[in-house]
Amino acid sequence: MGINCIKVAKRYGEPNRRALIEMELLDSSKRIASDTDYLFLPLVREPDDVEKRNLGDVEFLKHEFKEHEKAPTLEDLLGFMPHYEVIGDIALIEADDPDADRIGEALLRFHPHVNTVLGATSPVVGEFRVREFTLIAGIDKTETIHKEYGCRYAVDLAKAYFTPRLSTERERILSWIKPDDVVVDMFAGVGPYSILIAKKATPKKVIAIDKNPAAVEFLRRNVVLNSVDNVEVIEGDANLVTETETQGFASIASIADHVIMNLPHNAYDFLDSAVKFTKPGGMIHYYGMTHEDDLFDGSIGLIEAAAKRACREIEVLEKRTVRSYAPHQYNICIEARVA
Ligand SMILES: C[S@@+](CC[C@H](N)C(=O)[O-])C[C@H]1O[C@@H](n2cnc3c(N)ncnc32)[C@H](O)[C@@H]1O
Repeated sequence: MGINCIKVAKRYGEPNRRALIEMELLDSSKRIASDTDYLFLPLVREPDDVEKRNLGDVEFLKHEFKEHEKAPTLEDLLGFMPHYEVIGDIALIEADDPDADRIGEALLRFHPHVNTVLGATSPVVGEFRVREFTLIAGIDKTETIHKEYGCRYAVDLAKAYFTPRLSTERERILSWIKPDDVVVDMFAGVGPYSILIAKKATPKKVIAIDKNPAAVEFLRRNVVLNSVDNVEVIEGDANLVTETETQGFASIASIADHVIMNLPHNAYDFLDSAVKFTKPGGMIHYYGMTHEDDLFDGSIGLIEAAAKRACREIEVLEKRTVRSYAPHQYNICIEARVA
């Protein structure tokens, strides 16, 4: 059977290896194989057509590979498996963990690309949904660049919200977007929905709004970093920008095929604006935090009521739990078409 790989002449091996790392395609758990003239570079998956074109003159085939010698796991190093997440070259743990220092050192050893381990000293709080951190190990910084699905996001974790935990959810939203669409991302943060959509679905336009000036600064940087020219960034309150003139439209009213409302704790406060942004037949992607006893019905009622206030109707297309948030509390998403 073998696994997916590319076959390249040995003299072109290094540039191709670097290109595969950049594209997050190289399977580093396997050892690169070779014969007299060629290298076989193992891949984590079959590249798509765009990636194949970018790789240029190489052969795609299947080949057998040996595993790298087994390095000690984090559990081997610590004697238990710690809770942590990695954003760019920063690992995050809970600061009040009694083993925080040991975990920090182990993470630096175990993840060679991690340069900083931060401990969260507060939950995600406030209007701008940010956390406070203290340095546990490594370089003292809170800014990094996170890579996800071929996009890069610069972020200062102490100044703007970002979580890699929603990466699968962002991909699911992406699957709804068509090339001619206009998308309004009401709570864009540093841009993980807006930029992914702008880059991969190439819609006509993404209007990315956020009230946090620091998030907007990174959002603008990320537009440049990802070379997307179909994102318009607006700094402001999503409830106060309906009449804002945007490139190509007199206002944001009634122009959106998709409105993304990723402010789960109080998206309901912005439903009237979301309905206003949505053109007839367009769709609202509404996020909420709900109790297991009423996962969807209460939220659907709020969306319906907002539509009714604008003399419009909704049809619910999809409802799902995105992740569990706290005991008995879930982060949910509802897709509703607004007639
Ligand atoms: C949960 S974060 C989501 C950010 C981004 N969508 C993501 O997935 O990383 C919510 C964002 O809404 C922004 N925000 C809060 N209130 C806002 C408002 N009234 N208008 C616009 N943005 C707001 C916050 O600054 C924050 O960046």
